[in-house]
Amino acid sequence: MKILIAYFTMGGRTKKTAEAIASALATHEVSFFPIEITGKFIEKIKLLDQFEKKDFSKIETELNTLHAASYDLIMVGMPTYGNFPPKAFDEILARMENLSGKKAIVFNTARFTGGKALEYMKTKVEEAGAEVIDQRKFRKVLWIGTKNANKFGKQLNERLE
Ligand SMILES: Cc1cc2nc3c(=O)[nH]c(=O)nc-3n(C[C@H](O)[C@H](O)[C@H](O)COP(=O)(O)O)c2cc1C
Repeated sequence: MKILIAYFTMGGRTKKTAEAIASALATHEVSFFPIEITGKFIEKIKLLDQFEKKDFSKIETELNTLHAASYDLIMVGMPTYGNFPPKAFDEILARMENLSGKKAIVFNTARFTGGKALEYMKTKVEEAGAEVIDQRKFRKVLWIGTKNANKFGKQLNERLE
């Protein structure tokens, strides 16, 4: 299967999780579409603030390269911000346009909660026309390892044809 993993990360936890899932998808062709906020703390906060106001002008070039059409499975991974995914999630979905006939998986990372945000993601992806075949929450208060993500990836690798 051709799989696209689109994710957003500010602290690296969702990136680490996405990469651990991907490393276990050994018999599939995996590509990433990352939105990564990096730099000094204050710069990160400023950019996140712009994104939360739905201003994605700083990553317009990258967003224009986002095409879902050639993939069989779309995976979307997000952190949890106040019980919702960041606004980048909605933007990614809007850019992917119609996902009819595609399979999808949503996952998120969280420190305390995350269930409500994951349900929101699932609903929105379904509204975009995809069939959500799995969903997973990776919740750790402190250090987030790769064990659970790797296990999830291995299960998917066997299950997907
Ligand atoms: C502004 C902000 C809001 C957050 N809100 C929540 C929350 O409501 N529930 C939760 O469990 N974790 C919350 N977190 C923790 C993040 O969801 C968690 O650390 C996530 O794994 C970060 O992913 P990242 O390292 O890829 O950016 C919040 C973090 C930030 C920075």
